[in-house]
Amino acid sequence: MATPESRRAGNAPGSQSLQQEPADNAAMAGQIVTLWQSGWESGALAPGAIAALEAGKVLYLPHLAFALAPGEARLLTPAVRNPKARNISLGADALLKGAVGDAATLAELAGMIGRFRRQAAQLIEAMLPQYRDAMRLAPTSYRPAKVETRAQSWRADDRRLHVDAFPSRPNYGERILRVFSNINPEGVPRIWRIGEPFEAVARHFLPRAKAYSGWQARCLQALRITKSLRSEYDHLMLQLHDGMKSDLDYQQDAQQMTMAFAPGSTWICFSDQTSHAVMSGQFMLEQTLHLPALAQYDRSASPLAILSRLTGRALI
Ligand code: SIN
Ligand code: FE
Repeated sequence: MATPESRRAGNAPGSQSLQQEPADNAAMAGQIVTLWQSGWESGALAPGAIAALEAGKVLYLPHLAFALAPGEARLLTPAVRNPKARNISLGADALLKGAVGDAATLAELAGMIGRFRRQAAQLIEAMLPQYRDAMRLAPTSYRPAKVETRAQSWRADDRRLHVDAFPSRPNYGERILRVFSNINPEGVPRIWRIGEPFEAVARHFLPRAKAYSGWQARCLQALRITKSLRSEYDHLMLQLHDGMKSDLDYQQDAQQMTMAFAPGSTWICFSDQTSHAVMSGQFMLEQTLHLPALAQYDRSASPLAILSRLTGRALI
């Protein structure tokens, strides 16, 4: 069962975070694949790199920096974020959300985030040509807040290992591919933990997952808690997300490695598949690309395919 209670007495999920640094596991080093290119115009990835990405590994591009235009350094301050918003975001409609400042600052923010949006899309189109016609860009986000001082409920706390799953937006197995660039101007890396492969996560948490209820899914939709009917796939992904985050023993003991993403670097992963947590850092740009699972090079590698195989059911 994915109960909100930790198995460790007295540790309600919301009340504290990790007691000590979990040990890095040498076997985990293969979860990162390093690519040395320095430009956003790229050739197609080698089949091995594509397979690694689709297997849930992180592609790390230490020399691929997002270049700030003259004057944009002044945007690297948390003061540009509306304190009520988690991040600043720019949609396809060019609408900027979550930012505060005068008209010139807002225009400059939109310019910087929009440029990252185009470069990230260009990068993925070139690296993964099979995705080109199938992918859809989500809003682009700029995260100027310091990760380590953010107070959050356990469920929203991305400092706990998790796979991404969204409570209000069922996605029926559509993939969440993300491009991240660390634009910290003071040499501060973004520190992540990266956990075990998706199938291991699923084998660990599926036996404790609450059963799917179609009736409950219809209620959530009627109450507009979800934007469409939550499928069994979406239910199970949330059960994995919540099961991982609410289990402090798992957070501590699961196979994992710590990775420092340097300023001036870019990294890419399927965040619905890669077990990840962000421990510290400040100033990052992020682009999400949604992709139908059927557009993958290896259709059997998706969370939907893996969960369907493990449960023996079609989940959407
Ligand atoms: C997350 O996707 O969990 C957070 C990533 C980050 O902010 O570095
Ligand atoms: Fe996440």
